[in-house]
Amino acid sequence: MKPETRFQILVSVAAIGLSTLTGYAASQPVSNTLASPESFAGIADTAARSAATFTELGKVLTHPRCTNCHPAGDRPHQTDASRLHQPPVTRGPDGHGTETMRCSICHGNANFDPGRMPGHPEWHLAPREMAWEGKTIAEICAQITDPARNGGRKAEDLIHHIGEDTLVGWAWHPGFGRSPAPGTQKEAGALVEAWVKTGAACPVK
Ligand code: HEC
Ligand code: HEC
Repeated sequence: MKPETRFQILVSVAAIGLSTLTGYAASQPVSNTLASPESFAGIADTAARSAATFTELGKVLTHPRCTNCHPAGDRPHQTDASRLHQPPVTRGPDGHGTETMRCSICHGNANFDPGRMPGHPEWHLAPREMAWEGKTIAEICAQITDPARNGGRKAEDLIHHIGEDTLVGWAWHPGFGRSPAPGTQKEAGALVEAWVKTGAACPVK
């Protein structure tokens, strides 16, 4: 065997090894990406396809970047571990904190990375009836489609709210030390749109 041939064999063996490795990595559960609406096209039943699309969106809704601001109680949570907010702050009457502890005292108009401080001009807590912490994706879906608990929003309003609202968008640009919500905001918006267009059906459990 000529040395060149031996070299070629070595290279191709290495390439196979590499592709096996990459294939292996790709088959691991990846929680930081979102499937496209098209990937559910194989589900013939429209309601089932709709529900499956919402379940995919659920990866975003149940992510700490969202649930930290949609907590069960009156206190926001922090970090990827969703520990209770330090210092202790509460929602207050308007979600912007109590009179003496307004969110805007610390949270500015934009992230301030040297202080690990997240920021946005409208930084405040989601209303109590919009709490997602500790809920299943089916429960969140039921609540999000219930006008009594969703601020009177129609399902189609969520296409814009999730796909374009800048406070929601913060979750994909959360600043230093925080993992962003899965996929992109645009991809999440596309899932909401596909869900609405197929009848906004909720997963059973
Ligand atoms: C006294 C200062 C202070 C006040 C007031 C304050 N925060 Fe914070 N908040 C912080 C700091 C500091 C962090 C970052 C902590 C970290 O990530 O280590 C933070 C982080 C957060 C996070 C975490 C984001 C994430 O996903 O990691 C949320 C949510 C939050 N604050 C909501 C609020 C809300 C809502 C209010 C008003 C009701 C509020 N904060 C008032 C200091 C404050
Ligand atoms: C800094 C706090 C904060 C963060 C972070 C946040 N939200 Fe919210 N969210 C709010 C507030 C405040 C409201 C109420 C706004 C309103 O009704 O106009 C809200 C309302 C909503 C609603 C409407 C709820 C309903 O039942 O109709 C949706 C949907 C929503 N947020 C999605 C998200 C998603 C998705 C994420 C993460 C990608 C997220 N939010 C992250 C504060 C936050």
